Amino acid sequence: MQVCYTINELLSCVDKFKEEKKSIGLLPTMGALHQGHLSLAKRAKAENDVLICSVFVNPIQFNNKEDLEKYPRDLERDIKLLEEINCDVVFAPSAEEVYAEEPEFTYSFGSLENVLEGPQRPGHFNGVATIVHKLFNWSKADRAYFGEKDFQQVAIVKDLVRQFSIPIEIVECPIYRDEDGLATSSRNVRLSPEARAIAPKIHEILLKSASLMKTLSISQVKGYVEGEFKMRKEFTLEYFEIVDAKTLQPVTLKGDNKIVGCVAVWLDGVRLIDIQKY
Ligand code: PAF
Repeated sequence: MQVCYTINELLSCVDKFKEEKKSIGLLPTMGALHQGHLSLAKRAKAENDVLICSVFVNPIQFNNKEDLEKYPRDLERDIKLLEEINCDVVFAPSAEEVYAEEPEFTYSFGSLENVLEGPQRPGHFNGVATIVHKLFNWSKADRAYFGEKDFQQVAIVKDLVRQFSIPIEIVECPIYRDEDGLATSSRNVRLSPEARAIAPKIHEILLKSASLMKTLSISQVKGYVEGEFKMRKEFTLEYFEIVDAKTLQPVTLKGDNKIVGCVAVWLDGVRLIDIQKY
């Protein structure tokens, strides 16, 4: 496995892979790898000749300075974990090199970015699109792998690919959960043992909402979920929305379209998100 700390090092690896006509899978991450990342990495490795995994805490997608500072980092451990699953290249550039030039372009994703995470995290998706677009260009990957927990991010990345005609396949992968149901996230390590013990309630409430969806209306299900979080003082609900899976616009009536419930809650000073497909 090669670890590339500069863009030029990565470009040389990519040139070599292209000469050898190898298909390239890309897994973009911000490091602090967990089992969810590793399951994506294994899938990407199985479906491509080579796997490039980027480890880069992208400063411009954080709208909260404290969140950026507290974001867990352990590159040495990440490299070890990726080596164990036979990753071919780890790309861990510096922010100074990636943003040597101040980004001048502002992306626009219309109504996809005006809902859910968008209003809560101004500039977040522009930051994500900026780095993902660069990673797509540098890696020349055939496929890129994203977890479904960041449901809106996947929709935005697909739209980025559409708007810029980027020749890459976006592979959307199911949420990886710990045994007790908590969706894996790099932020989970920041939960105290007490908070970690109640965090699986998020998935439990969403699962129950899926069974209620069979008999109740959308607004009743929404009311149920909001009520469950509000009555537990440990949680501070930021939003729960039931949206169309494609447009991400809130839905009020059941129809033939696929719908999904998206939640963001604070627990023990940590912001957690999860989804439930209905
Ligand atoms: O999902 C993430 O970890 C990040 O948003 C990504 C896609 C690596 C871009 O920084």
